Amino acid sequence: MWRELRMQRLRRRMPVKNIDLTEEIVRVKQRLSIIGDSPALMEAIKRAVMVAPIDLSVLVTGPSGAGKEFFPKIIHQFGARKHKKYIAVNCGAIPEGTIDSELFGHEKGSFTGAVNARKGYFEEADGGTIFLDEVAELPLTTQARLLRVLETGEFLKVGSSSVQKTDIRIVAASNVDLPKAVAEGKFREDLYYRLSTVVITVPPLNERGNDIVLLARKFAADFAEKYMTKPISFSEDAKRAMMLYNWPGNVRQLKNVIDQLALFSAGEEISRHQMLEALPVNRNPLATPMIASATEGGAEMERKMIWQTLLSLRDDLNHLKQRFDDKFGENDLRKSGFNDVRVLMAPEHPEENPNHNPLDRSEKKVIEETLARHDGNKKSAAEELQISLRTLYRKMQDLGIS
Ligand SMILES: Nc1ncnc2c1ncn2[C@@H]1O[C@H](COP(=O)(O)OP(=O)(O)OP(=O)(O)O)[C@@H](O)[C@H]1O
Ligand SMILES: [Mg+2]
Repeated sequence: MWRELRMQRLRRRMPVKNIDLTEEIVRVKQRLSIIGDSPALMEAIKRAVMVAPIDLSVLVTGPSGAGKEFFPKIIHQFGARKHKKYIAVNCGAIPEGTIDSELFGHEKGSFTGAVNARKGYFEEADGGTIFLDEVAELPLTTQARLLRVLETGEFLKVGSSSVQKTDIRIVAASNVDLPKAVAEGKFREDLYYRLSTVVITVPPLNERGNDIVLLARKFAADFAEKYMTKPISFSEDAKRAMMLYNWPGNVRQLKNVIDQLALFSAGEEISRHQMLEALPVNRNPLATPMIASATEGGAEMERKMIWQTLLSLRDDLNHLKQRFDDKFGENDLRKSGFNDVRVLMAPEHPEENPNHNPLDRSEKKVIEETLARHDGNKKSAAEELQISLRTLYRKMQDLGIS
């Protein structure tokens, strides 16, 4: 009853009381086992919950492995079509030659191999929801058919000339930049607007802060339960390392990393070192201690890793010094015989001076570019780089960035 009232209010575009929405979000997360409380993820779930009872097309965007597949399920299961069919179609996985027939069906004899007539998904799921995953992969001819069915509810089976009617709600997903695909002529502009009445953006994992640790714990517990192994736990340093990594493969990659650790280190508390070993070489040089390119030879890679470890030790020492300075004042320290720890850490050979090292140069470049992108706003630059504001200031000072 309350749900019907809520739906009516939504239809009349009146805001739902926060308390209802919060309860609904909790239910959604429980039912679909969605882990995480970060504001960006919560916002995405909230949008899905709010749009579920309203029959609009929804486009779910976000990088690969971020969890887009939960959203069409939320929209179907928490909407008025929940007792009808839900069909998920991976548009990228169906060969171009058969996709029209898969979606719209075909008549007997309409092409070689069409021995019998066949219903397509749009007929099968009449009254329900179709999830078009990787929608950017649809050929242009299929896009035209899709636009027609979205606008008029009409479609033609392959090889048929009689128009059929269907009532389908479409939720589409894409991890490619659709406006770019439109600009390049690969995706119909009219279809893009028709599909994207409501857009839900699933955030990349590296923007979800502590969700990373929550997900890691969940995956570790799931693994132990499924394979009856001793569960792993994570040291504070390992958690920090996870949170600093930029997770190019998002939640899917995190799950793979945790599965590996759960298998090979069952029962252990994962140290920072173990965590770093399990993390592949990263594309963001600031987000991980391992910045050597995967294509580099073993010796070069090892040299860079050692160098990077030294740099991170230097950072830690400078951090300690900063804390001493903050507490006792720099002059007191100097009186006690302490000099700048950077001097203590100065490399023996001048050519190894950090400021001449290519690694530091690339770090400097990344920081300068990020600052420029944020118009010099250090707080938002630090957020993008996934380091604290304090670390950003320290790095700027070390690298001579004004
Ligand atoms: N918040 C989350 N809580 C629990 N599991 C999650 C979460 N987000 C993603 N996952 C899991 O991560 C994996 C990848 O998610 P999903 O398949 O939805 O990614 P995707 O965004 O559709 O990626 P692609 O664009 O490559 O298809 C799945 O196993 C999914 O269950
Ligand atoms: Mg997917």
